[in-house]
Amino acid sequence: MPADGDADSAVLRGACVVLGVTGGVAAYKAVEICRRLVDAGAHVVPVLTRAATEFVGAATFSALASEPVQTALFGGPDPIPHTRLGRRADLVVVAPATARLIGEYAAGISADLLVATLLATRAPVLICPAMHTEMWEHPAVQDNVARLVARGVAVVEPAAGRLAGGDTGTGRLADPADIVAAAAALLRRPRERARDLEGVRVLVTAGGTREPLDAVRVIANRSSGRQGHALAEEAAARGARVRLVTAAELDAPAGVEVVRVETAAQLASAVHAAAPESDVIVMAAAVADFRPAAPIPGKWKKRDGPPPLLLEPTEDVLAALGARRRPGQVLVGFAAEAAAGPAALVAAARAKLEEKGADLVVANDVREPGAGFGGETNAVTIVGRTGEPTRVPLGSKRTIAAAVLDAVVRLRAAGSPPTGQQGDEQ
Ligand code: CTP
Repeated sequence: MPADGDADSAVLRGACVVLGVTGGVAAYKAVEICRRLVDAGAHVVPVLTRAATEFVGAATFSALASEPVQTALFGGPDPIPHTRLGRRADLVVVAPATARLIGEYAAGISADLLVATLLATRAPVLICPAMHTEMWEHPAVQDNVARLVARGVAVVEPAAGRLAGGDTGTGRLADPADIVAAAAALLRRPRERARDLEGVRVLVTAGGTREPLDAVRVIANRSSGRQGHALAEEAAARGARVRLVTAAELDAPAGVEVVRVETAAQLASAVHAAAPESDVIVMAAAVADFRPAAPIPGKWKKRDGPPPLLLEPTEDVLAALGARRRPGQVLVGFAAEAAAGPAALVAAARAKLEEKGADLVVANDVREPGAGFGGETNAVTIVGRTGEPTRVPLGSKRTIAAAVLDAVVRLRAAGSPPTGQQGDEQ
């Protein structure tokens, strides 16, 4: 995540940040995070677990931070330090976060002052895990992280690199500069995003289409539609007039006009009907690329053996929109890929962007933990025509939606003519 120093300082200045530090080798890097937060003008309250004090001296933090280190639930001057800390905090950052801390927080077990503070606070929380690769990849840890993310906790994923004991792999604490940038982004979110799509007409598609084979059987895909619904919800919350064309069996988000469809053809006609009056189109649906050429009327009987299965291509809706959109309209596509690494993912997204004439492509690697179809979380890379791709780490689908719409807002601000002032497309 690129750090924008001045903008970060503006949002961090005066903010009360509880900096939780747990017992891992990376605890020494929390000193650098503390210093950066203080330099940006934040009021930093360090909370160290007992294990953290084995790795780095409390005196170091006390000297750098805005207040002395706190470590214990009991024995200090305050009989209920966790509720006081939780209420004062504008933000809680835990770096490094061990598997134990993540597990106790996910399970709601307040074994020490830091977990008790996390459970007592209503402020946004940023968790920065660091541990050995095997531990990070263990299903128990991944499940706990996913539970926290689904509850709205932000996570800066560990990076690949050298680990304790001379090992290498994923599990190393993310760069302190990236952690401070993520902290600033979290504080900025409610204040500045508020209504930045006021009156903008946004068309979103969602879900996986189902193509009939006969009267009871369909060809479908694994898309749940949650990412598209989260996009519609987030756009509406930011003031947009949203139409959601959905093939998903999910409730309609509040304040959104919903068109329910089942097949690729129905989705295409609903989209083409709304496209001329849309300022932004986000194609999050997993549209079938092929459908049975001649669906069987009635129900095919098993005794007749396997049914004939001749497929024909469907319309590529995104490519059609890209070929005949009006100037100023922002077109966002999605790309679910099984890529061999981040560079291959970006290359595949770029190719799709060119092929289909989109302005942005939101790519995810379906093999990455937490980023596949169907779950509550996602992790994406947003690729545009210019500039560096933006990596959006593992987060709730609503958080991903917010990052996608941030990119749309930036694109509109960078030169697209404002809403409804161009000539009509045709
Ligand atoms: N899309 C579409 N119409 C289709 C198929 C896909 O509009 N018939 C859109 C999707 O909504 C998505 C984007 O195209 O925004 C990319 O879809 P994807 O399935 O990843 O790409 P394909 O073009 O189908 O290529 P492939 O499956 O070979 O990767």
